[in-house]
Amino acid sequence: MGGPESSYHEPVLAGESVALLVHGPGLYLDGTLGGGGHSLAILRELERSGWLESSLLVGIDQDDDALQEAGVRLAGYRGHAVAVKGNFRDIAVLTAREVALRGMEPKAAGILLDLGVSSHQLDVPVRGFSYMQPGPLDMRMDSGAPGTAADILNSVPEAELAAIFFRYGEEPLSRMIARAVCVRRVEKGPFLTTDELADAVRSVVFGRERVMKALSRVFQALRIAVNHELEVLERALEDAVALLGPKGRMAVISYHSLEDRMVKRFFSSLTTADWGPKGVGLREPVMPAEAIAVTRKPVCAGAQEVARNPRARSAKLRVIEKKEGADE
Ligand SMILES: C[S@@+](CC[C@H](N)C(=O)[O-])C[C@H]1O[C@@H](n2cnc3c(N)ncnc32)[C@H](O)[C@@H]1O
Repeated sequence: MGGPESSYHEPVLAGESVALLVHGPGLYLDGTLGGGGHSLAILRELERSGWLESSLLVGIDQDDDALQEAGVRLAGYRGHAVAVKGNFRDIAVLTAREVALRGMEPKAAGILLDLGVSSHQLDVPVRGFSYMQPGPLDMRMDSGAPGTAADILNSVPEAELAAIFFRYGEEPLSRMIARAVCVRRVEKGPFLTTDELADAVRSVVFGRERVMKALSRVFQALRIAVNHELEVLERALEDAVALLGPKGRMAVISYHSLEDRMVKRFFSSLTTADWGPKGVGLREPVMPAEAIAVTRKPVCAGAQEVARNPRARSAKLRVIEKKEGADE
């Protein structure tokens, strides 16, 4: 694990997200601390702007490796940065505890969620996230949480497995793959490793490109199911917005359409006023918009960044700003 410049994970859209997020001193929350790349960029920007003294960054991650890495990387900002173990589902409670310890208000100037897994999680075979290398079928971001990918594969009925592959992976051959998993379960016993799952997929999907796509979708689907990613995100978005102070900003970077759809819909519900039933012609909305869209369209990585870091290819950054008085 590394120091300020590290190979743990290269932050995606770092310049863009920090430029749109950091706009004054205060409390900054990074709900997906990872290797601390974005957090470090936020702290550097606060320092460069002369706002560091009156700022605190709280970084949250459920992965012990991430906390260890980020701890090393952010060591130069002791007193202005704290790394907390937890799930961003609990962002309200985790933040309340950290700010209470420092006598601060739980009102954030900026919140960042950089969703999904880190390169480190994908690169380390023992975490079982990748079909590229053999490893145990684990896929838990929090290694202490109950329920691994193997537990799901070995216990869930065929129809439910197909639903997981279809819903979370948008895999068109979900039923055939679920069937292959269940047949293999009966013939050869429980799944233990990533390459056993990859072989089951290859037994019913043919053609190099189709196989690669199917593997990527099936592994993504299982990972989302293991970590309850969409349910967690839905709850966290609500709670995070409630934590924003007036003119506080929230930036979310998503990597697949399921996440992005959820973020887009949620942000749109915050930035759209409710004018009641059509044709009534009210002078004021029944419910004014709570926030304004800082990004009208998602910000995507440029060709240079994608060439340097292929993970950036699918990234979409969306940012909103809470209106003054929206809490009253
Ligand atoms: C894409 S990486 C973030 C990388 C980070 N921005 C950086 O610059 O290194 C996502 C991180 O969020 C963490 N994570 C994902 N979902 C989480 C959740 N619900 N609660 C806490 N951490 C989560 C993962 O463990 C992973 O370390």
